Amino acid sequence: MADEAKVTVPLVRARKGGQKLTMVTAYDYPSARIADDAGVDMILVGDSVANVVHGHDSTLAMDINTMVLHAAAVHRAHPRALVIVDMPWLSYHVSVEDTIAQAGRLVREGGAEAVKLEGGRKRLPMVQALVDTEIPVMGHIGLTPQSVHAMGGYRVQGRLIDDARALIADAKALEGAGIFSLVLEGVPDLVADIITKEVSIPTIGIGAGGGTDGQVLVFHDVLGLSYGHRAKFVRTFAQLGAAAVAALTAFKSAVESGDFPNDDETYRLSEEVAEALLKEPESG
Ligand code: KIV
Repeated sequence: MADEAKVTVPLVRARKGGQKLTMVTAYDYPSARIADDAGVDMILVGDSVANVVHGHDSTLAMDINTMVLHAAAVHRAHPRALVIVDMPWLSYHVSVEDTIAQAGRLVREGGAEAVKLEGGRKRLPMVQALVDTEIPVMGHIGLTPQSVHAMGGYRVQGRLIDDARALIADAKALEGAGIFSLVLEGVPDLVADIITKEVSIPTIGIGAGGGTDGQVLVFHDVLGLSYGHRAKFVRTFAQLGAAAVAALTAFKSAVESGDFPNDDETYRLSEEVAEALLKEPESG
């Protein structure tokens, strides 16, 4: 992938209605390398790191320092993919000034090329301020995990007519505020299809059917490395968790049987040095 052009915000925008966009989460150097080697268009340093890496039961535990740490590790892989970093809960809810300061840390210290934040019309002042500060913003509406308590759980959104209309209005308002792309999570496919048709920016779906301009999944879900509840929309494309357990079981047996390490895996002194060392009287 190294000789292909770097994915940029304008390139993502230009893919609206064209070849489907792909985005996957990555939270560290190896996952960023793997995602980039696979040629995905966008890497999301998602606050889902709270669940899949840190073992929390929601994303609310993530703070800006933790997101900076994970973003910086991804940035060190210098991916060709566009790197988008999630703004964690409470980093864009307090004031416009605070939002810019927190997003600035993701850009300066974490190497973010864009940020993502959850919510619709009530986030417009923050989105507009970030765009004015030259920080590209990806929106995220529908099932927004940071609203887990307000939603009463992780529930599909937009099933009722008023809720569906509200999501469509949110999407258009965010587009007007200058977002370059919009994640639609956990919404019925018709709602996602209407939004995709009515906005001029690419929509990226997760649990939003097949009509969006692109799809995003969590790295650990794709690879069979996640634990706990699996949502209906997740497809697991490999069973690396099972492969890892098999590999570590083989390591354990090889150590216990004396098969590991073998001669090729062992450093040896030259015969001369070994002989001299063994001739020396034992000290003490
Ligand atoms: O944090 C995350 O992984 C996300 C995706 C589910 C879109 O926000």
